[in-house]
Amino acid sequence: MSQLAKEIQKRKTFAIISHPDAGKTTITERLLLYSGAIRSAGTVKGKKTGRYAKSDWMAIEKQRGISVTSSVMQVDYDGYQVNIVDTPGHEDFSEDTYRTLMAVDAAVMVIDSGKGIEPQTKKLFEVCAMRGIPIFTFMNKLDRDGREPLELVAELEEILGIDAYAMNWPMGMGKNFYGLYDLHNKRVELTDVTGQEEGTLIPLNEDGEVEGDYSFKDSSIYTQALEDAQLLQEAGNAFDEEAILSGKLTPVFFGSALTGFGVQTFLDAFVDYAPSPGSHVTEDEKIVEADDERLTGFIFKIQANMNPAHRDRIAFLRICSGRFQAGEDVILKRSGKKIKLSHTTQFMADKRETTREALAGDIIGLYDTGNFQIGDTLYQGKEVIGYPPMPQFTPEIFMKVQAKNVMKQKSFHKGMEQLVQEGAIQLYKTFHTNDYIIGAVGQLQFEVFQYRLKEEYNSEVILTPMGSRVARWIDPEDLDLKLSSSRNLLVKDRFDQPLYLFENEFALQWFKDKHPTIELKKLL
Ligand code: G4P
Repeated sequence: MSQLAKEIQKRKTFAIISHPDAGKTTITERLLLYSGAIRSAGTVKGKKTGRYAKSDWMAIEKQRGISVTSSVMQVDYDGYQVNIVDTPGHEDFSEDTYRTLMAVDAAVMVIDSGKGIEPQTKKLFEVCAMRGIPIFTFMNKLDRDGREPLELVAELEEILGIDAYAMNWPMGMGKNFYGLYDLHNKRVELTDVTGQEEGTLIPLNEDGEVEGDYSFKDSSIYTQALEDAQLLQEAGNAFDEEAILSGKLTPVFFGSALTGFGVQTFLDAFVDYAPSPGSHVTEDEKIVEADDERLTGFIFKIQANMNPAHRDRIAFLRICSGRFQAGEDVILKRSGKKIKLSHTTQFMADKRETTREALAGDIIGLYDTGNFQIGDTLYQGKEVIGYPPMPQFTPEIFMKVQAKNVMKQKSFHKGMEQLVQEGAIQLYKTFHTNDYIIGAVGQLQFEVFQYRLKEEYNSEVILTPMGSRVARWIDPEDLDLKLSSSRNLLVKDRFDQPLYLFENEFALQWFKDKHPTIELKKLL
């Protein structure tokens, strides 16, 4: 195996997908703590003390301009270099959140065990499922009373449609959280609630029972876990590494990010089973292996600077193959032009550093003055390499957009065209009146759009919210302007493809019932 291949094997690049408040930040902080990147829990997160998690970017972003450290974090864990890519949530949910998932090799799905699967988790899950990347589930907040573990696991299959395999099983919860019955490691791991030192491990014998004459304060908690685990072994899915790697089976872990219990057990298994960077397929279906010596990669996100004092933008490059070295030339596939990559940055847990070198699997930030677009491929070598374009995602919020000053149409159009091309927002036009409508998956995209038009293109716009929530594309052959009504609006996207904007799911269903022959398609 080449030196390059060996180093690539040590990389694990992933994102955490979760609904706000499920514990993404807290678990990230645990990882930073165990890797030695921070010294004590609570340094990253602490709304009360006015400090924010590095991965909670928007709050800091607003304060100090651009905060790239929060977008990607790189830490050493157990001999691996782990790259965590942030998936902004809360009010900063945007298409970038989805696009980030195009750049990772695995996802960790954090679920609040008191709530089960929540809407944002489901949306992010669907993008991961579409890519077929492995998904590792962490059922969080076991230090609180939550829902029945069997029910939580069943929900994975029922709501998300993914098979699940419990790697460990909780013994009790809340005040009586005794620990984990760990089928995978064949041991029981105890919390201090049991009167033992936290983390005490008791091996299991061949029958799956604790060895020796250990007795629990409340043995029914242990017996219940044992029964559940046996039931799962008999009736549930079998452990299947291949199915995990292809995203068909999710290994499930329980624990508490807040107390840290179960997190290390989870992370150890994660680095064991999550894939290292693999091959990528180009647009013309050539396979580029990660340890191919040629540097190749694609831009999956462009972060505009919200601070007018710094006009630079950062384009995020996922390296797919080879080794990046600062100062080298690459070719931008879209234009065929050579570009020197000298101003680059890599992200550590606590600082932003200039990158000298990075490998397949890593993500680096390129200072950009307008050269790059989302989906761009960069490559070295004689052979042209082009990775497939980024998928577009079905927006869920729509606004009518007009220039405030009708005399400034030129800058308005130019700015809009560039921001649309860059992937900041999606643009539609109505058929009759040629009104402009913009669509986004999150409110933040509109704010950024409006702000950037003003700052970068000197164009102020008026945004008027529209009632529509649901977009569905149709075959151009089905286009019939007469079918547009007060309940739906027929528009065309920037590639002139027709779509309907419906007020809500109900209006969509009504239309489907009325016009059963028209096929209505979602993007992603
Ligand atoms: P997010 O990034 O997914 O949005 O979630 P975050 O980690 O910020 O956690 C949301 C809230 O849930 C926080 O409480 C956090 O302390 C709590 N939390 C996270 N993991 C656990 C857990 O395992 N058990 C319990 N009991 N709570 C957990 P907060 O009060 O909103 O924030 P803070 O003021 O305490 O920082």
